Amino acid sequence: MNDTSLKDHWNHAWEKQDDTAVSWFQETPEPSLSLVERHAPDRTSAFVDIGGGASRLVDSLLDHGYCDLTVLDLSGSSLEIARQRLGKRGEHVDWIESDVLAWEPDRRFGIWHDRAAFHFLTAPGDQERYRDLLDRALKPGGLLAVVSFHSLEDRVVKRFFAARSSTGGGGSRHAPVQQTLDPAFEITVKGDGPDAEELAENPRARSARLRVGRRTEAPAGKADRTQLGLPKLVTGEKKGKRR
Ligand SMILES: C[S@@+](CC[C@H](N)C(=O)[O-])C[C@H]1O[C@@H](n2cnc3c(N)ncnc32)[C@H](O)[C@@H]1O
Repeated sequence: MNDTSLKDHWNHAWEKQDDTAVSWFQETPEPSLSLVERHAPDRTSAFVDIGGGASRLVDSLLDHGYCDLTVLDLSGSSLEIARQRLGKRGEHVDWIESDVLAWEPDRRFGIWHDRAAFHFLTAPGDQERYRDLLDRALKPGGLLAVVSFHSLEDRVVKRFFAARSSTGGGGSRHAPVQQTLDPAFEITVKGDGPDAEELAENPRARSARLRVGRRTEAPAGKADRTQLGLPKLVTGEKKGKRR
């Protein structure tokens, strides 16, 4: 899907029905809200919701005194829904209509939240670009929270966390030596499922998984596809196809 059709796809997904009717809707944005309060109690922490759409998490964070909030989404329609809902309060939020992979943040964040957006990045190179951006945009000590909805999607997130919380070492001693990076994350929550309250509110969240990590002091590194469990990209030159 190219950038325009992806944007159209998501705008249509938000416009064709009431935002409370989408399958990922949450009236009460748990466990994200409790997680932010527990791990990032400083209300001035800079928070960004990646692919936040019309989620009500931003409303709840405002209610709880968080004052430095950014919501980024590819779909302008979804952001408009949230903005309309919040009215005057929405003026305190920074709304960014952009593909996350095209975004060049001019500051660093203390909390990076992503509920059901990361796992849509499946085109070659997407996850590495996301990782490079995240490494640069999250402060040392900052919190990364990713929620995915299905076990296949969670596997992508799990692999991402595993690669970013290790040096990339291990494996066969006969394998070629790889460049290693210091771990960029310490994992704090490993794939928690929904509790009874969340399930009662939304039974479709049964397979949702939350993974949380804290950014270390390690400098941002260049992504290695093999560390993310992805095959190496073969260029045309290597395949001898360029003339
Ligand atoms: C399943 S919805 C989840 C919305 C919200 N996080 C929530 O929990 O209610 C996924 C959201 O990710 C956004 N999205 C998908 N790909 C994106 C991208 N490459 N950059 C920015 N947003 C993206 C979509 O527009 C959509 O709003």
